[in-house]
Amino acid sequence: RIVYVNGEYIPEAEAKVSIFDRGFLMADGVYEVTSVLGGKLIDFAGHAKRLERSLNELDMPAPCTMDELLEIHRQLVEKNDIDEGLVYLQVTRGSDGDRDFVFPDPETTKPTLVLFTQNKPGLADSPAAKKGAKILSVPDIRWHRRDIKTVQLLYPSMAKMMAKKAGCDDAWLVEDGFVTEGSSNNAYIVKGNKIITRELSTDILHGITRAAVLKLAAEAQMEVEERNFTIEEAQQADEAFTTSASAFVMPVVEIDGTQLGDGTPGKTALRLREIYLDEMR
Ligand code: PDD
Repeated sequence: RIVYVNGEYIPEAEAKVSIFDRGFLMADGVYEVTSVLGGKLIDFAGHAKRLERSLNELDMPAPCTMDELLEIHRQLVEKNDIDEGLVYLQVTRGSDGDRDFVFPDPETTKPTLVLFTQNKPGLADSPAAKKGAKILSVPDIRWHRRDIKTVQLLYPSMAKMMAKKAGCDDAWLVEDGFVTEGSSNNAYIVKGNKIITRELSTDILHGITRAAVLKLAAEAQMEVEERNFTIEEAQQADEAFTTSASAFVMPVVEIDGTQLGDGTPGKTALRLREIYLDEMR
């Protein structure tokens, strides 16, 4: 693979970042994942906008302009011949060569910018989406600025491992009795013609796929209600699904051992997946 590190396109084996980088020592960094379908970036503008916001919220300087970032994305897709897959981007606060809780001076310490691609043939025509996901609920014990897309992903990884150990595909996180979101996606239930998902706040990541799917749902005359829901309500719903840049719309067929409907992907989720893929690619 050819990867990008601080201005250079190099083979992945030659990529180097300092051991003092605050991304490595303190998870002081933000990231974005943009999907690629047919060699085309999906909703780059949305991801660039959220990246700018994440950087702003953490007082982290942008490593370059968003136009330059777009060009780097395109170059990497081309150099690695990605037809279907993902582009991962990470910006960290860099390092001034020592470990300190206090941020280094942004005048003298440049942020670290790293990008790489992941080749994922069959991303759109996914067997997992045809089967649907089994969900395990776990407590949401993350920090309270989940609207910032930081690289602090230890708990989401642990949540996914708990799900895997329980024979499930993914975890939904629950706080004060209500579902916040999935370990790496936004969560939805469907009741009749109504799609229900938690409202935007600092409690959840403002999904780029969420924004696109809710807009497309409204255009398709589906009703959208942004409010909290519990695991119990989800277990009694007609359908459930998740959204993310890496899995688009993923139907949910089971929550904490309770099968939803007939245990196969729901028609609303499958239709939204189709509408989304048709519209975005
Ligand atoms: N995850 N919520 C969380 C906690 C996420 O990590 C993600 C994305 C989303 C969905 O956001 P979007 O639609 O913008 O991808 C919601 C990415 C894909 C990841 O960590 O790989």
